Amino acid sequence: MCGIVGFTGKLAAAPVLLQGLERLEYRGYDSAGIAVLDNGAIRVEKVSGRIAKLCEKTGNGALVPGAAGIGHTRWATHGAPTDQNAHPHLSNDGRFAVVHNGIIENYLELRKELIRDGYTFQSETDTETIVHLLEHYYDGDIKAAVMKTAARLEGSYALGIVCTDTPDALYVVREASPLILGVGVGENYFASDVTALVSHTKNVIYMEDGEFARLTPGAITVYDCTGRELQKPISRVTWSVEAAEKGGYEHFMLKEIMEQPAAVKAALAPRIHDGKVQLDGFELTGEQLRDIHKIIITACGSAYYAGCSGRYAIERLCRIPVEVELASELRYADPMVDEHTLVLVISQSGETADTIAALRECKSRGAKVIGIVNVVGSTIAKLSDHVLYTFAGPEIAVATTKGYTTQLTVLYLFALYAAGKLGRMDADRYAALVRELQHLPRRIQQTIDMNWQLPALASRYASQSLFFIGRNTDYAVALEGALKMKEISYLHAESYAAGELKHGTIALIEENQPVIAVCCNESLMDKTLSNIVEVKARGAKVLALSFKGNKKIVSQADDVIFIPRIETIFSACLAVVPLQLLAYYAAKGRGCDIDKPKNLAKSVTVE
Ligand code: F6R
Repeated sequence: MCGIVGFTGKLAAAPVLLQGLERLEYRGYDSAGIAVLDNGAIRVEKVSGRIAKLCEKTGNGALVPGAAGIGHTRWATHGAPTDQNAHPHLSNDGRFAVVHNGIIENYLELRKELIRDGYTFQSETDTETIVHLLEHYYDGDIKAAVMKTAARLEGSYALGIVCTDTPDALYVVREASPLILGVGVGENYFASDVTALVSHTKNVIYMEDGEFARLTPGAITVYDCTGRELQKPISRVTWSVEAAEKGGYEHFMLKEIMEQPAAVKAALAPRIHDGKVQLDGFELTGEQLRDIHKIIITACGSAYYAGCSGRYAIERLCRIPVEVELASELRYADPMVDEHTLVLVISQSGETADTIAALRECKSRGAKVIGIVNVVGSTIAKLSDHVLYTFAGPEIAVATTKGYTTQLTVLYLFALYAAGKLGRMDADRYAALVRELQHLPRRIQQTIDMNWQLPALASRYASQSLFFIGRNTDYAVALEGALKMKEISYLHAESYAAGELKHGTIALIEENQPVIAVCCNESLMDKTLSNIVEVKARGAKVLALSFKGNKKIVSQADDVIFIPRIETIFSACLAVVPLQLLAYYAAKGRGCDIDKPKNLAKSVTVE
């Protein structure tokens, strides 16, 4: 996600801000900027691209005088990564500048309202609405303007604000996005991430949701959302800079696995309003959807496996036939695609060469394309007719985790949206499924919390070649589980549709062969159970994955990993999490380079 920093003191602010932004570089970003208060005015410098470019433009900060300022690294969510969309954003009267980490969900309606009131926008961002609201509510009392502005915002935000009327003060507000204040001597700081603070001070104040604060060189005052002053404790950070970058986790992959509840929430929240699913700035009518004869989902690797899961949700809810095709195959397949085909192109990076080629091939035959993409402004986002961003934030580990679960989430949203428009679900069922989706982030967290035994299970099961089996949605999860195991632990792992075992593969089952059996589909439970019995009869040791309370599985498998109960069509989004962790702990036990597995690249931009 984005990063924010702020400094107020006696030194020049710009070099401190630039150094803070460099500390946040590891999180990934596509543009950066600073705003510094000087002589009753705000000077803003921002660039798309690297912080090095911003350093060059500002003479490492020397060309931007002033002792108080704010800075930002942006990971584009609303609007491409351009200079205009980079933060900080300025109010029309030049009095306020704002940096923002998070997403303002109601920004479209705020934007319309502000334009009606005569404000002009320089960017496509959700953030710019905040700075115009501040101007709108300001009547000489900044605290009141900040409180009124925050009351209008829906979504997540950590805000850093400067105002020309208070030349040494910074204002910050937090709601569902991390924000930490750094307590110095004769100088104070804020940042979205402790990494940007630890080289200056280890004394910090953790802001809570609904709180805001005013920082000057000599004082920090924190208020609750009613404006009441709070006495906040000062904590001592013991992390090194290196540990802080990974949020205290040993690897980015583990950090990103743990970020999944928040990432899935970010994918869901802007798209569910009053119990109804909405798409981002575009609509598909029932008539348009009825004109679609088939849907093709195309992607590579894990994104392809997300498509395999999504297919079940779309077919079951919408009753439109779905084909899931590997992009590297589809591009050369002379595909049967025409203007009655809707193509869903899935890609975390948005730059995968085979996926881009498959997209172009389908478009040239008249298909409509919806991109399901994480990186804003990427090639696939640009080539698609419409884009549904996954809002996972930057993924640093090569093996995708939150990228995959947010792709699944968007596919579920699409399936519900289309089913609703087609009138193929009764209202009660639709409402129940929307509610179930809204619980996904909490259920993912519960899944993580209840699986503390995975390190031990990894050492028991991940010592030789593994088989992953399952049926239907569980088979789709088995595919992703086996891929995770292969790519980071370098153990041979194969996935099979459980019913296929007896057509050949069962010949490979010998004494002590590890089999991971995914059994989260209640209607097929007995079928998969009989496959477990088959492999056990040939000596396999079986680690099953099923929902909590499933007694049958406990009596058949050697060990069981549980997930909370959930509608079967959404179960992949929970079931995959313990398999990610199993692969992680297997790789850790084998001493592998988890974040950068050998021979793999994060973005496969060549064929
Ligand atoms: C596996 C993994 C890859 C990617 C694949 C597609 O963990 O990360 O299999 O899923 O290379 O990449 P994107 O989604 O960027 O198109």
